[in-house]
Formats: sequence, structure tokens, C-alpha cells
Amino acid sequence: MNLLQLENKLIEIYGKSNEQIRFFRSPGRVNLIGEHIDYNGGSVFPAALTLASTVAIRKRNDNIIRLYATDLNYVVEAKLDCLELYKAYEWGNYQLGVLDELQKAGYSLTGCEMIFDDKVPLGSGLSSSAAIEVVTAIALLAINNHFVDLVEIVKLCVAAEHNYVGVKCGIMDQFASAMGKANHALLLDCKTLDYAHIPLEMDGIKIVISNTNKKRSLGESKYNERFSQCQTALSFLQADYSAAEYLCDLSYSQLLNSSHLITDSDILNRATHVIKENERVKLSVKALQDGNVEQFGKYMNESHNSLRDLYEVSCIELDTLVNASLLQTGVLGSRMTGAGFGGCTVSLVKEKYVDKFIKNVGKIYNKAIGYEATFYISEIGDGGKEVYKQ
Ligand code: GLA
Repeated sequence: MNLLQLENKLIEIYGKSNEQIRFFRSPGRVNLIGEHIDYNGGSVFPAALTLASTVAIRKRNDNIIRLYATDLNYVVEAKLDCLELYKAYEWGNYQLGVLDELQKAGYSLTGCEMIFDDKVPLGSGLSSSAAIEVVTAIALLAINNHFVDLVEIVKLCVAAEHNYVGVKCGIMDQFASAMGKANHALLLDCKTLDYAHIPLEMDGIKIVISNTNKKRSLGESKYNERFSQCQTALSFLQADYSAAEYLCDLSYSQLLNSSHLITDSDILNRATHVIKENERVKLSVKALQDGNVEQFGKYMNESHNSLRDLYEVSCIELDTLVNASLLQTGVLGSRMTGAGFGGCTVSLVKEKYVDKFIKNVGKIYNKAIGYEATFYISEIGDGGKEVYKQ
């Protein structure tokens, strides 16, 4: 839907008013490498997509919030003074969680009416939820004349997800959604929040996202269990490394020296994935900067194997896509992206082989799994911002 259509939809759903209608947009992301690293204090390498959540918003003079999405046919209504009542909403809880967090941080808000046009496929591992959170926060702060630093906005959105939605996510998705830059990936140190935009110069190579179409919600997945297993691993290792605040403060050789401290093999495997993946991020960014995309692709493959075997967050659908991808001509690397348990893979594919890739991988997937995968050739876009009608 374009912005004019979105404006008309807002008037159709909520009626006319004298308040100005404004528009904001924030994207989903694809993580190129560095999975399950953000909440362990290491480095990640995501990029913002052009697939985004766009909102049209208009103020009200009371404390009522109304939300509507173009792909759902109902209005969610909430009051600003009792936001804790709506935590179990199937849709609307990300937005209401953000409102709650903004108010708790002391920002005064008035009621409003919002229409969401969400183009990031829901539950696909491309951060549809972060896109919604970030666009909600940017829009609400702007219409209430609060001028807030984007990194602060990112932190408020993460807090909303922890406190309202109940997922102990890291900061990567919201950061990429807010701070992304067209044609660049974001190298983010999740401990210090230092970041750099790294140009994605991969001549003749496309980033292809393959969606398993297996839906999952992090709330129902083993995401929080992985988070606590990492905490457990860290607490054992602190016997030798008391200064370590996060698993990613340790190197792989330090882990090997102290591996006797972790007797549970699952916990040791989780720590091994995290520490090696963190090291892989640095090596792969170096490879990219040296123009060695082939080597970057190899690190992507290693990352997938580690997520499958050590971190155990892959699944038959993701593995089928990755295995089928690696059989194709012109593929430099392929891995699951995002939390796992379903969702998408990301592959680097030579441009002239992309059509064949989609055809062949689609066929193999359908035969093995029994339903279709969906493919997107990613464009890397900008982070969250206000947008204007032409
Ligand atoms: C989800 C979370 C992120 C991150 C990834 C895994 O997308 O929201 O914070 O932990 O999983 O890398």
C-alpha cells in the first residue's frame, strides 16, 4: 500500500479529524552472520531490508490507542492508563509494550490512531516484531514532540520485548531496524554498542532469502532456554575468569583451557557455538573487507553447521533449504538466519544463477517438506524514519 492509500485507509477506519496524519517506516533485517551472539555480548553483522513496517498515525485528544493492520480486519483498542491489561493480545502487544515502556521511561503520550502496513513476513526470522516496535516508538515520540536519540529508542524497544512480550531477546534486531543504512551491513558490538556501517560490495552476487514458511513465535520456542543455558555456561567459566561479564568476553582457547568446568555436554556445546561464532564474525567481516566473498561464504556454512549441531536451533525445514542451496551452482554460502526453529535462510548466490537457484531449491524443498518455500532477493535499505507522501 502506498502512503496515500494508507492515509485513505486511516480515514476509512477511524473517520475524519483535524489532526495531521504522519507516516513512519522501519525495516526488518537479515543477519548475515553472528547468530545467538547479541545476548552474549559479542559482535553481529545484520543488514536492514527494504521489506518494512509502515505506519500512518494521527493524534487523539484522549488516552485511547487504536491499532489496525492492513492484513487483519479488526481494530485493537487500549487505554494508556492500564496497558498491563493487554499483554495476552495476539496482535497489538508489541505496539502496546512499546507504549508501556515509553510511559515508564517518563515520556508523556496522548492517545492516537494507527494503521500498520507490515511487509516483513510475520514469524519468519526477519524481525517483523522489531520493525513494528521501532516504527511504533519513532512515530509515538515524534507526534508527542519528544526528540530522542535512536539508540535510546532501540533500548526501549528491547525492554518492551523483555517486559511486555516476555522474550529475552538481544539488541540486534531493533538496532538493525533503527540504524540500518542502504547497501551497508551493520557491524555491531553488542556489549559496547559501538557500530560501523560496512559497505556490502559484492559485485555480481545477490543475497537470497529463502523462507521455510514454517511459522514460529520466539515466545513458544526454546529461545529463552538457550539464553539461560548461556548464563549457566558463563557462571561455570567465571570460576576461572571472574572478570568475564559475557560468554563473548572469552576466547576459544580460554574455553578449551577451562572446559572441565562445564560437565553438561549440552551446556558446553552452547558455549562453544557462541565463542567460536563470535570469532567467526570478526574473521568474516575481514574477509569481506578484503574482497574475499568466497571465504565469507565458507564462514556462513560453518555458522550453520554450528547452529545445527552445537546450538541446536535449526530444524529439518532450515536444513533442507541449506543443503539444497549448497548443491546449486553459483552458491557461495548458506545458513539459517535469525533465531531458528523455522523462519528463513540467507544465501549468497551469483546473480546469473539466481533464477535457477530459486527453481531448483524450491523443487527440492517442496518434495521433501510437502509445501512451498518463498524466495526474496534482498535489497538492503535504510533504518527507521519518517516518510512523506510524494
Ligand atoms: C532473535 C532475537 C535476536 C537474536 C537472534 C539470534 O532474532 O530477537 O536478539 O538473539 O534471534 O541471533
